[in-house]
Amino acid sequence: MRIHVSMDSAAIALGAEAVLAALRSGLEERGLEAEVIRVGSRGMVWLEPLVELDRGGGRIAYGGVTPGDVPALLEGRLDSLGPTEAIPFFARQTRLTFARCGVIDPLSLSDYAAQGGLAGLRRALGMTAEAIVDEVKLSGLRGRGGAGFPTGIKWDTVRLAQGARKYIVCNADEGDSGTFADRMLMEGDPFTLIEGMVIAGLGTGAAQGYVYIRSEYPRAIAVMEQAVDLARAGGLLGPDVLGSGRGFELEIRVGAGAYVCGEETALLNSLEGRRGVVRAKPPLPALEGFLGCPTVVNNVLSLATVPVIFARGAAFYADFGLGRSRGTIPLQISGNVKHGGLFETAFGMPLGTIIEDIGGGTASGRPVRAVQIGGPLGAYFGPDKFATPFGYEEFDGAGGLIGHAGLVVFDDSVDMAAMARFAMAFCALESCGKCTPCRIGAVRGVETLDRILAGERAAVALLEDLCETMRLGSLCALGGFTPYPVLSALEGFPEDFGILPEVAE
Ligand code: NAI
Ligand code: SF4
Repeated sequence: MRIHVSMDSAAIALGAEAVLAALRSGLEERGLEAEVIRVGSRGMVWLEPLVELDRGGGRIAYGGVTPGDVPALLEGRLDSLGPTEAIPFFARQTRLTFARCGVIDPLSLSDYAAQGGLAGLRRALGMTAEAIVDEVKLSGLRGRGGAGFPTGIKWDTVRLAQGARKYIVCNADEGDSGTFADRMLMEGDPFTLIEGMVIAGLGTGAAQGYVYIRSEYPRAIAVMEQAVDLARAGGLLGPDVLGSGRGFELEIRVGAGAYVCGEETALLNSLEGRRGVVRAKPPLPALEGFLGCPTVVNNVLSLATVPVIFARGAAFYADFGLGRSRGTIPLQISGNVKHGGLFETAFGMPLGTIIEDIGGGTASGRPVRAVQIGGPLGAYFGPDKFATPFGYEEFDGAGGLIGHAGLVVFDDSVDMAAMARFAMAFCALESCGKCTPCRIGAVRGVETLDRILAGERAAVALLEDLCETMRLGSLCALGGFTPYPVLSALEGFPEDFGILPEVAE
């Protein structure tokens, strides 16, 4: 018998370690032989701690297991959810980036290779740098951090740039509220990220990489550090990658808790040991990045998707999706929702299907009033926008952004004026202070919202004007995108600001 217990942070937060301890003692007491395996998350967070039992016929899932359930579980008296992969939330997914997450032991390189790992890298090792970059371009992969810039074009800029050294920097400073895909991937399948970074190195001529992880992710940091050591011992990293004679080295670096260090130039400053403030662009990091050298800065998911593109071919990946949004997107569904978790699917699923059908509606059972998509800088969409298909251009056209694909659900008890005020206050708190529209604008924004809420209707025009200035004049997305949540709340839910819809028009 094999027993799989998640070691993902969400599972541990919900009691997985106590369940594990009860399992071990329960097995011993009963004299039962079983292999207990730690795995990453299957993404069904509302079912954690999830325990999967394999008596030889495949994994059977038991959700929300407590230590008290363990005797019944081991004696076959506990109700199961059936085969894990037949649970509708799981069965409806297209798992490409997350194919191995929850399946393999995250820290077993042999398990990784046995489940299709390293196939992409082996193929890339037989290709020229130009052919590698062309493959990424053909796949249609776009930056999963939020901006959606074509990854192949970014790599090509670095490949063609002149520089004594080049670098691959992985942005794992996943600061957006309601997002956890980077963390889940690093905790559940770290070698995929490492393999993607090695391929990026081969494609651009870089021999050194860094993974910059936020300090709030201690488990991801620990798993990645162990994985780097194991990768080095197993020949995935080092001077002779998989016996090819090509070298690639990788280091883990830990941030210090500033949201703005998720912005790529502030991240590079922090990586260099400087204060994490935003640098003006140009120059682009692709030309003058880490230590002034050409640097690829990519999000965890962008890099972790590269191995499957090389293992199965660019055309296979590009075949999924909608319009210019190719491939799959790991949606992170959270907030007041029944089925919260990670759901990887091809681009194109309507927002309403994601929230009502996949997510199961609100956990409170009340009607959904708003969903914030794309983190604290994302717009609020009400049910009137639920037909919007999940894609970069489609959300842009509807006045929002998909960002890092976090979706936070609110029921009809939410106060949208408070949410708008929170967005401005968040910007004021996290502003790096480099540019005036954000540094001063966010503070004035909080004050202006307070005036509106005190009944000063004329301040609405002032807030709209201020948002326009922040949008157009800010140096980075923090100041530039804060108007999205503020204005979408004001326009979509004017009654919460004490303004009747007719007046707002
Ligand atoms: P951006 O549009 O300025 O740049 C996107 C990327 O493309 C950057 O890496 C940039 O250097 C690169 N790039 C642009 N033109 C290029 C060229 N010609 N050649 C090579 N590379 C080029 O967007 P930015 O400011 O980097 O990111 C903003 C996004 O970040 C927002 O959409 C937001 O959703 C997201 N975000 C994500 C967070 C998270 O936790 N994942 C947190 C906050 C924001
Ligand atoms: Fe700094 Fe805000 Fe300006 Fe970005 S928009 S550079 S966070 S002050």
